[in-house]
Amino acid sequence: MPVSATSVSVTQLEADAVVVAVYADSPPAGAAAELDKATGGLLSRLIERKEISGKKNEITTILGPAGVKAHTAVVVGLGPKDSFDRGVAFRAAATASKSLAGKERAKVGYYLADDWSPEQAESGVAGSIVGCVGQDLYKSKKKHFPPGETLWSRVDKGALASGTILGDAQNLTRRLVNEPPSEIYPESFANEAVRVAEECGLAIEVWDLARLEAERCGSLLAVARGSDREPRLVILKYNGGKEGDAPLALIGKGVTFDSGGLSIKPNDGMVTMKCDMAGAATVLGAMQAIARLKLPVNVIGLVGLVENMLSGSSYKLGDVLRARSGKTIEVLNTDAEGRLVLADVLDVALQHNPSRLIDLATLTGACVVALGNDVAGLMTNNQPWCDAVSQAAGSVGEQVWQLPMFAEYGEQIKSEVADIKNVGAGRWGGAITAGKFLEEFVDGKPWVHMDIAGPAFLDSSKPFLDAGGSGAYVRTLVEVARVGSS
Ligand code: BES
Ligand code: ZN
Ligand code: ZN
Repeated sequence: MPVSATSVSVTQLEADAVVVAVYADSPPAGAAAELDKATGGLLSRLIERKEISGKKNEITTILGPAGVKAHTAVVVGLGPKDSFDRGVAFRAAATASKSLAGKERAKVGYYLADDWSPEQAESGVAGSIVGCVGQDLYKSKKKHFPPGETLWSRVDKGALASGTILGDAQNLTRRLVNEPPSEIYPESFANEAVRVAEECGLAIEVWDLARLEAERCGSLLAVARGSDREPRLVILKYNGGKEGDAPLALIGKGVTFDSGGLSIKPNDGMVTMKCDMAGAATVLGAMQAIARLKLPVNVIGLVGLVENMLSGSSYKLGDVLRARSGKTIEVLNTDAEGRLVLADVLDVALQHNPSRLIDLATLTGACVVALGNDVAGLMTNNQPWCDAVSQAAGSVGEQVWQLPMFAEYGEQIKSEVADIKNVGAGRWGGAITAGKFLEEFVDGKPWVHMDIAGPAFLDSSKPFLDAGGSGAYVRTLVEVARVGSS
């Protein structure tokens, strides 16, 4: 989707639509003030009459505004001035973009960035790219029409380019999550990764079944066994930093469909389980952006790809698995498969001597119970590292909340038969017992686990985002890599 700069004023741009913004607590300024003037004070009157309040994500569409060349003007609310940040910028642009995407439009001009910093403008550009794309991949009659051309006023070339890279990366993640499981399975996901790697110059290694067996990935392989689809493990390498500098490792859960296995999910719990590879898709999106941005860091991305199915060869309750690290695991629920996949992927990651690790996984329903749909749970063995990840998320407007990792939770996953078992003592604290399980496989290295079961997939759409895959935390991961390199 081409995005470029324009120096034409908001009133003079020949376009299908122009977008301006107003704060909730200050009079129209910049392009909004120009629009107000050209329309004989229309904006001021609408504000005066409280038709426009300027609250966050409020959209007012003005058709055929007098004195303006564009056919439509959209006014988006930014909320109070003192709460404006990159997250607000992203969502405001995405809200306008989503609203305009309801119809086919050739050219849309964004006049939002008059008083925005380059970082805020970058977020806005990304939002304008994400908002207009929907989950209607297979609908004959589309619901979302990205504009033929998107123009931004008062945004420097750098922010325009990086915002486009971030928006495209988030949309890549969303598309992979939104594709049906008949299209995205371990092998086809790995092929997508190869395509991305070739396009943006990442080194890539794909482990097939034989290699996974040779590497004794017994935990991942057990999950894969019930499926007709072969598993894969993909390793992406980006070397933008100094040679020999220990890389940041990003690890993703890539269960391309989670039926629950023999501990089969009820229909209601299974309907959205194509999204169970969102962690892997987030890592791939972030790796694409990090490479395209040419960040001066070393990063490796590792994703474990399996399909969790039922068949005569499925792994069973009571089975004892030997993970690649040598630890033995008693299986008491085949629906707690994500942690089994990650156990081996984390072990492979350690082999690359990372300085720090982050894993992303749609790991537990319990995390959604604890934090709701919009917030990822963070768990860690290293507080400063967790603070850094949390800070990065906050700065791009993505929400996270830390959960405790007290030793008592770890007691729950001890097994009488093997070293550990794959579920806790009961349902309670299920997000944390899952986190404790993963901690067993990071060998004390600074590590943050992000449980994205809630935010990765939206059941209903938001003003700024269609339902389905959200691409959440792609921008957080890129920000972590950026901060680490500055
Ligand atoms: N993929 C699910 C978790 C999930 C739930 C993701 C809802 C997205 C939305 C995971 O593999 C799972 O089934 N976890 C179990 C763990 C339990 C058996 C200990 C769960 O959350 O019920
Ligand atoms: Zn499961
Ligand atoms: Zn799962």
